[in-house]
Amino acid sequence: MKTKSLTLFAFVVVSTLIAIFGWQWFTGEDKRLLQPGPLSYAHHQIELTCHSCHGDSFAGNAGIEQECKNCHASELKAMDDAHGQKKFSDPRNAAELAILDATKCLNCHQEHQPEFTRKMSVTQPVDYCVACHQEVFSERESHRNLAADTCTNAGCHNYHDASTLYENFLVAHLNEPAQLATTTRIARVIDHKPLLRADRMPTATEPLPAAMNAAHQQWQKSAHALGHANCADCHRDNDNWQVSIETCQGCHEGQVESFQQGHHGMRVAVGLPPLEVSMAKLPMHQDASDKVLNCHSCHQAHDYNTRKAEADACLGCHNDKHSKQWRASKHAELWQQNPDHGASCATCHMPRLVDKATGKISVEHNNSANLRPNDKMVKMVCMNCHGVEFALTALADPDQIDSNFSKAINASHSSMDFVRARQNEVSASSRPD
Ligand code: HEC
Ligand code: HEC
Ligand code: HEC
Ligand code: HEC
Ligand code: HEC
Ligand code: HEC
Ligand code: HEC
Ligand code: HEC
Ligand code: HEC
Ligand code: HEC
Repeated sequence: MKTKSLTLFAFVVVSTLIAIFGWQWFTGEDKRLLQPGPLSYAHHQIELTCHSCHGDSFAGNAGIEQECKNCHASELKAMDDAHGQKKFSDPRNAAELAILDATKCLNCHQEHQPEFTRKMSVTQPVDYCVACHQEVFSERESHRNLAADTCTNAGCHNYHDASTLYENFLVAHLNEPAQLATTTRIARVIDHKPLLRADRMPTATEPLPAAMNAAHQQWQKSAHALGHANCADCHRDNDNWQVSIETCQGCHEGQVESFQQGHHGMRVAVGLPPLEVSMAKLPMHQDASDKVLNCHSCHQAHDYNTRKAEADACLGCHNDKHSKQWRASKHAELWQQNPDHGASCATCHMPRLVDKATGKISVEHNNSANLRPNDKMVKMVCMNCHGVEFALTALADPDQIDSNFSKAINASHSSMDFVRARQNEVSASSRPD
């Protein structure tokens, strides 16, 4: 009898505890204990917002697929997804879908599975391309002896983004020199207007005269004075000097939007507080661990000197091998002499873009936009100064990345060799007998 009631008591206690903690897991702020495993590097920052992928009701895989598309469809469309849904709606490809349903993101990108998740959240084995492309071994002389796990070797093929790695493009850029004749990046000019008077000058009763004077002096030489953004445009409230990201957004909508699409700003996009350096998976300077990522992590009020933002600011936080090697590179040396030559961190990671419709030049603030697969950088950055084969070879070499491109190379890329051989094959077969 005694043991029976003890068991009953223990049962009641345990179930009450489970009910309380279970309820907290479901309703509390931090639901991470309910995850089957941690998220991939791509999404670790938004782990706290389960609903970003699962919706509010955990509606199953169809709901998750929709959330993937809400965040990624426009990016895949912009790169003209080489294996987009359209390709697979062609009935001739139905047999391939039976092997692997490629209309579903989750068949290749699962989450919470760190044991078998590869770079870019890919959860298929490396050799899965040949599930659909067996024919390539028989149809292409150059591919006959290749191993099935080499299709996506750096600079050969990508699954989605074939905007650089396709035959006609490579043919058009065969045999270019390593260094092109002109080697500068796109120029960015400020629209200088007549001298502007500050609308917030220090007064005798002002509580912060020294800070006011410093602000005024820096502002007067800045792009804001030249472009007519006055003190009151940022400081609307006389008692509070704090400036929010929404204030910048009023005039710099594109920069705020693209900032929120990359790893620096993605938390803000889902309503979480800004990224703190201490949350990073990449190596950072210890003494930067309490810094946060917002517009003023790289831009200093009030001088807004973009040269400081291009490298010094980055190196205040980043402390990995590649970043630390930059100062020793030719790119850094040349950039220090003339910022439109060589390459700063921003030249590669936050390149200047030209809007095709308006001709307006702006800086890409999504720091992840051209990072993976890294041949995205060829068109956006390297081709301003280097031949395509040189750039592809450098980007495919992990030692070049570790040394921040401070090693000489003998440029020859197997993709280009295949294209050269095929050009010869085609011209031989089209020659009249
Ligand atoms: C970046 C998107 C993403 C986020 C954010 C996310 N998940 Fe998931 N979750 C997935 C995907 C994808 C699957 C796998 C579905 C599959 O492969 O069947 C999954 C599966 C699960 C499963 C297995 C059961 C099921 O529904 O298939 C649980 C439980 C789960 N997630 C809990 C969580 C919790 C709790 C959080 C927040 C702490 C979270 N997830 C955040 C994408 C996400
Ligand atoms: C709330 C928006 C959001 C949702 C929902 C979301 N992602 Fe992402 N995803 C991002 C952001 C932001 C990044 C980081 C920026 C980047 O790497 O391009 C990212 C990165 C990625 C990457 C890696 C890109 C790289 O460069 O390494 C893949 C692959 C990816 N997401 C696929 C998915 C899939 C599949 C789903 C659905 C399970 C999903 N995402 C859901 C916002 C989202
Ligand atoms: C058949 C497999 C497969 C399917 C299905 C698939 N992906 Fe991918 N995805 C990959 C592979 C492999 C990569 C690695 C980079 C590459 O090869 O392009 C990748 C990379 C990515 C990237 C980052 C690379 C880039 O170029 O920006 C994003 C974002 C992404 N996938 C999103 C999605 C979304 C969203 C879906 C569903 C609409 C999806 N993927 C469906 C295989 C797949
Ligand atoms: C689910 C089946 C499937 C998988 C998996 C797949 N592909 Fe494809 N791929 C296709 C289809 C369908 C086309 C469209 C070409 C066509 O209509 O014949 C295509 C086209 C291509 C093309 C362009 C060929 C051309 O000249 O039009 C390349 C290159 C390619 N895939 C490479 C890859 C690589 C690399 C992988 C692995 C990362 C891969 N594919 C995985 C089905 C697949
Ligand atoms: C482009 C936006 C912008 C403009 C224009 C601007 N400021 Fe500021 N100002 C800031 C930011 C950002 C801060 C830092 C506030 C914070 O920490 O949130 C700041 C802070 C200040 C502070 C407080 C400094 C301290 O040390 O406490 C003063 C005073 C100030 N600004 C004066 C001015 C004056 C005077 C002008 C015009 C001559 C001006 N600002 C123009 C963005 C601006
Ligand atoms: C009232 C509009 C306005 C507001 C608000 C504003 N800016 Fe600007 N900003 C401008 C103008 C105009 C320029 C000069 C643009 C040009 O001609 O290219 C500029 C230029 C810049 C530049 C480039 C400086 C250079 O030397 O090239 C940076 C960086 C910048 N703003 C950051 C910010 C940040 C951060 C905020 C929020 C604290 C902010 N701005 C708020 C109007 C504004
Ligand atoms: C990771 C560092 C970094 C962060 C964070 C950052 N910027 Fe920038 N920004 C730069 C660099 C570097 C340049 C100049 C690059 C160049 O000259 O090519 C720049 C240039 C600009 C310019 C002038 C060029 C253009 O695109 O018109 C504006 C405006 C600007 N930033 C606004 C912002 C705003 C608003 C935010 C906050 C959402 C922000 N920046 C956050 C690094 C950063
Ligand atoms: C205030 C600190 C800080 C500054 C300043 C900063 N970063 Fe970062 N950066 C971070 C953190 C933290 C991450 C890690 C994000 C993560 O782990 O998800 C990151 C990530 C990155 C990544 C990897 C993104 C990805 O998708 O994997 C690149 C590239 C990068 N930063 C480049 C730069 C460049 C270039 C600059 C200067 C123009 C810069 N950063 C300035 C803190 C900073
Ligand atoms: C000539 C172009 C170039 C320059 C200059 C450059 N990078 Fe990179 N960076 C790259 C490439 C390419 C990658 C590798 C992408 C990949 O393949 O994963 C990379 C990767 C990174 C990463 C991600 C590392 C990781 O482990 O995921 C960070 C962070 C980064 N760079 C920061 C910086 C900083 C900070 C500077 C300046 C001090 C800088 N980079 C200068 C091209 C460049
Ligand atoms: C604005 C011009 C410019 C851009 C953009 C640029 N480079 Fe360079 N790069 C140069 C110049 C100039 C040199 C030095 C040539 C010399 O004097 O040997 C150089 C040198 C190099 C070297 C050889 C380094 C050495 O020490 O011999 C490599 C590798 C390299 N670049 C790769 C890249 C890659 C990859 C990209 C794109 C991610 C890129 N560069 C973008 C101008 C540029």
